[in-house]
Amino acid sequence: MGLLNALSWRYATKRMNGQKVPSEKVEPILESIRLSASSFGLQPYRVIVVDDPALKAKIHESACQQPQIVEASHLLVFASWKTITPEHIDSYISLVAKERNMPVEELAQFDGMLKDFLASRTQERLSAWATRQAYIGLGTGLIAAAMEQIDATPMEGFNTTEMDKVLGLDKTNLQSVAILALGYRDTANDYLVNQKKVRVSKEEFFIYNR
Ligand SMILES: Cc1cc2nc3c(=O)[nH]c(=O)nc-3n(C[C@H](O)[C@H](O)[C@H](O)COP(=O)(O)O)c2cc1C
Repeated sequence: MGLLNALSWRYATKRMNGQKVPSEKVEPILESIRLSASSFGLQPYRVIVVDDPALKAKIHESACQQPQIVEASHLLVFASWKTITPEHIDSYISLVAKERNMPVEELAQFDGMLKDFLASRTQERLSAWATRQAYIGLGTGLIAAAMEQIDATPMEGFNTTEMDKVLGLDKTNLQSVAILALGYRDTANDYLVNQKKVRVSKEEFFIYNR
């Protein structure tokens, strides 16, 4: 299926049928997310992969009991960094040097630029910035799922404080920001299954040369 057909086929699935998505379908979705662009390439978020029914049941309680949570095969929980420190930059610079087989000294300018970026922003602003990076991954995951013909629901409707406790994130530098539920649409029970996609027109949406 081509990209535009896949994007027309997909919708934010409200009911899923509980069928397991095989790992050969999940892996390319995960890898697409890992390959997502991020500002400076820092990837200031992680993705927690949940397929344990007991854990999904706990998450269900923190997510307004939305049925997709327990009917999905996998939940990908996007969790962004709460704080960003110079140590994060050091470890990123080391990774770039290692992956590109270059001396770390050659990255001194990049290192300085990243540390200046941190120093000129509050942690609150950096945390919001990290969350925006996580949403780019969420978008990539949605597209990848559609290309794999796997249904997916992007979800923000959950209590982040409770979710962080359930996943043990409250003791880490991560905070949950969004979920991507993966599974298969329940064609008998999902009221949205045959509904037309609603989007504003191209004329209204795109603004040329203003
Ligand atoms: C960031 C984000 C959060 C969302 N949260 C929820 C949610 O908690 N529950 C839900 O059923 N749908 C959720 N949605 C799905 C949207 O309602 C849906 O994407 C929108 O209505 C457009 O429809 P479509 O995705 O089916 O084309 C969310 C979508 C996004 C992008």
